Amino acid sequence: MFMFHNDLLKDKVIVITGGGTGLGRAIGERYLQLGAKLAIASRRIEVLQEAAQEMTKDGGEVFYKSCDVRDPSEVVKLFDAIFAHYGKIDVLVNNAAGNFISPTERLSSRAVDSILNIVLHGTFYCTLELGKRWIQENQSGTMLNIVTTYAASGAGSGYVVPSAAAKAGVLSLTRSLAVEWAKYGIRQVAIAPGMFPTEGAWSRLVPSADIGDRLLQRVPLQRTGNKSELANLAAFLVSDEAAYINGEVVTIDGGEWLQGAGEFNELIDLSAEDWDHLSAIMRQK
Ligand code: HXC
Ligand code: NAP
Repeated sequence: MFMFHNDLLKDKVIVITGGGTGLGRAIGERYLQLGAKLAIASRRIEVLQEAAQEMTKDGGEVFYKSCDVRDPSEVVKLFDAIFAHYGKIDVLVNNAAGNFISPTERLSSRAVDSILNIVLHGTFYCTLELGKRWIQENQSGTMLNIVTTYAASGAGSGYVVPSAAAKAGVLSLTRSLAVEWAKYGIRQVAIAPGMFPTEGAWSRLVPSADIGDRLLQRVPLQRTGNKSELANLAAFLVSDEAAYINGEVVTIDGGEWLQGAGEFNELIDLSAEDWDHLSAIMRQK
């Protein structure tokens, strides 16, 4: 059924922030299928509870706890609870995020804080709290950070500027700790997704069909991503099969960022007749 053997992640305890919805949930479902034990955390306990019930209908174990990653004391309580429940953690997926489109000049300082605090501070708090515990206990582990294609490209993006700045910071965290914490057996990896339709993202980033069409035109493969494609990548990267990958970000965007990067890629719309015509003009000179 999968590209992996079914016990790829057997008995690994994996924490996923924002694991009750969207991409976090899809990643968690794949991890469960591959033998992992999960802990999911986000603000809305009822969402986590329902997700945990549905995710375990075919077996497996999903521990859940409410946690606002913007609050360091809640992050401490989260890891206390997971260690109390499972006795160990092998992998952390920093997936929780906030985002919405807006002209930057319309943002209040509170709006900026809300995104930076979830994405950059929240990721940092979770990373720091677990990293300290792993180092203290002499335990190895892997951290997977979900960023975005506009962070991995280094280009950032207008209209989602707090997210662009925060995700760039998360990528820097990934690469910095890949070096600093490697001696403790702690590995850092990141995934940079392009467009993957989820309720959470699309309600805030693609509020009209027109915007959706315009965004899709940027993707050379001419489609959005499937959650299972991302989940497979997330499974490989945290598995022991990827043990020598450290500090790397893998982009999964159908070629989207490259489309914007090469200036002549704009010629993609020209027909064969257009090319015949242009070719004739150029050869005359
Ligand atoms: C302008 C906005 C706004 C909007 C909120 N604010 N939405 N400003 N345009 N659309 C302002 C509010 O007015 C307020 O400022 C401040 O932001 C905080 O808003 P709250 O609603 O109080 O915040 P909070 O309840 O903490 O919610 C955080 C949130 C929300 C980020 C605003 O959207 C959320 O909970 N998001 C979580 C899930 C999510 O965003 N998922 C998508 C991830 S997708 P004032 O000054 O009025 O008090 C992603 C993918 C990127 O990252 C790439 C895709 C291709
Ligand atoms: P999503 O379903 O909205 O996921 C965001 C999750 O973060 C939710 O489960 C939310 O749960 C949680 N969260 C938000 N604020 C939190 C907080 N303060 N504390 C704890 N948890 C919090 O959107 P998604 O599309 O699956 O996004 C998942 C990840 O993929 C994000 O990192 C996003 O940036 C990234 N990404 C997505 C796309 C895409 O196209 N979908 C593209 C690039 C990158 P609660 O509301 O219950 O807290």
